[in-house]
Amino acid sequence: MSIGDRGFRNALGNFATGVCIVSFFNDDNRAIGMTINSFTSVSLDPSIVSWSIKKESQCYDVFAQLGQYSISVLSKNQVEISNRYAKPGDHVMMDHEYYISASGLPIVRNSIAQFECEEWKTIPAGDHDIIFGRVLDFQCTEDDEPLIFYKGGYRGLAYTA
Ligand SMILES: Cc1cc2nc3c(=O)[nH]c(=O)nc-3n(C[C@H](O)[C@H](O)[C@H](O)COP(=O)(O)O)c2cc1C
Repeated sequence: MSIGDRGFRNALGNFATGVCIVSFFNDDNRAIGMTINSFTSVSLDPSIVSWSIKKESQCYDVFAQLGQYSISVLSKNQVEISNRYAKPGDHVMMDHEYYISASGLPIVRNSIAQFECEEWKTIPAGDHDIIFGRVLDFQCTEDDEPLIFYKGGYRGLAYTA
């Protein structure tokens, strides 16, 4: 069995994650978004987060070298937006889907947490790059629940005693 085969992916799929949209304004001033679930907290001081991008992705050329960008954590009601920006092709965001932060970054409306980042360090890691971002600002809305990605599908939270 090759470690890179479906069995390995299935095993990784047992690790439940949240779902986020990485977004930025391109040179034509259009908001561009991509769905990720590789978002991770890394350091509190300084405030650093990371995510990874597949080198084969059509998004790689632009997303792997962003100066400033936002990461919006999706709520359980945002499956549609997750699916829309998880496909190859058009990643231009619709006007009603985002607002513009004080520092001028596009942020997904009704997302439950938002991190505004600047490029800190990028490390090649096999078929992905790991992108570390320094968090310049953040906001958080605590009255909704997160969207969960597990075994290749979407879930909501279930509470245990
Ligand atoms: C829930 C979910 C999470 C994803 N997470 C990542 C990720 O962390 N990194 C990544 O490169 N692609 C991730 N993707 C795939 C990208 O969204 C997709 O590659 C991108 O939209 C462009 O498509 P393309 O790679 O076919 O060009 C994820 C997709 C889904 C549905």
